[in-house]
Amino acid sequence: MSQSKLITMDEFTIQETRKFPQATGDLSALLRDLGLAGKIINKQVRKAGLVDILGKHGATNVQGEEQMKLDVFANETLINILKNCSECAGIASEENDNHVSYEDTFSCNAKYVVLFDPLDGSSNIDVNASIGTIFSIYRRVSPLGTTCTEEDFLQPGNKLVAAGYIIYGSSTMMVYATKLGVNGFTLEPSIGEFCLSHPNMQCKENGKIYSINQGNSVKYEDSMLAYLRYCMEESKEDGRPYTQRYIGSMVADMHRTLIKGGIFMYPGDKSAPKGKLRLQYECNPMAFILEAAGGKAVNNHERILDIVPTELHQRVPIFIGSKNMVEKAMEFVGA
Ligand code: AHG
Ligand code: MN
Ligand code: MN
Repeated sequence: MSQSKLITMDEFTIQETRKFPQATGDLSALLRDLGLAGKIINKQVRKAGLVDILGKHGATNVQGEEQMKLDVFANETLINILKNCSECAGIASEENDNHVSYEDTFSCNAKYVVLFDPLDGSSNIDVNASIGTIFSIYRRVSPLGTTCTEEDFLQPGNKLVAAGYIIYGSSTMMVYATKLGVNGFTLEPSIGEFCLSHPNMQCKENGKIYSINQGNSVKYEDSMLAYLRYCMEESKEDGRPYTQRYIGSMVADMHRTLIKGGIFMYPGDKSAPKGKLRLQYECNPMAFILEAAGGKAVNNHERILDIVPTELHQRVPIFIGSKNMVEKAMEFVGA
């Protein structure tokens, strides 16, 4: 990256938010704090395989405390950073049963709330595959000057102000979307800054990859099995089948889908009609990002972003990715 072209995420965000005449800079500050949390989590993630070695030498855990699991560490890092950030009124996390309202005066006067999946794909930590943090930002609906309430967190995805993820992969990247589009920033470790590396990300209308836990096939409805047969047998324009890729870490599977095109699915099945993934922590933010990049995200009959949540941890089936591929899938499984 030549220095003359180096644009940090903070610089970029400030320039972008100036395009909104009513902008106060609060959103830029919030994104910066989420980036900071990402850097702290990244530092810990990069040490994952060393924990036992360092622990034995007493370099960590001097008080003999049990090493904190990475998903607990990520959750606490985000909760504490956002608590000290005067733009955030409260949070809801995949790891907590209920939302947390911050009670200090700054937070009560803050206009945003944040939802997150602190560490997505955490079963991949042991095998050194990519994991991530997913976040969503809503403007609160409860009155300013009070503590935020659950209804602030139960807004449909079409009310999102911004959403994004940090992926801890071969490199660490933060990708975020606003209604102005999607941009990706790669962490330059020597200066500790996320730098613009993927401007104006677009999801191709057509792709060649389908991504699903096909081991669940035995539980799928016939319509879903018919679509999978299509993927395996006749899907590409040249009549050859799609390629199958599935990491089992939604952030990593979605990052590939955003960059290369494709379809990612976690459908409902006979034993779990609503699938596995969470509307508020995983599906809405990814749907917002993919739509802002020209892609599409539906359950089997409506746009993910139009679903009005009724509870914080509700699950929803999802088909998300390249627009034409999602539309084709709906010819088989759409209700
Ligand atoms: P989390 O680690 O936050 O619990 O999420 C795991 C999710 C998601 O990242 C991934 O797409 C999915 O679970 C994988 O589920 P299966 O193992 O059932 O395929
Ligand atoms: Mn997750
Ligand atoms: Mn998680």
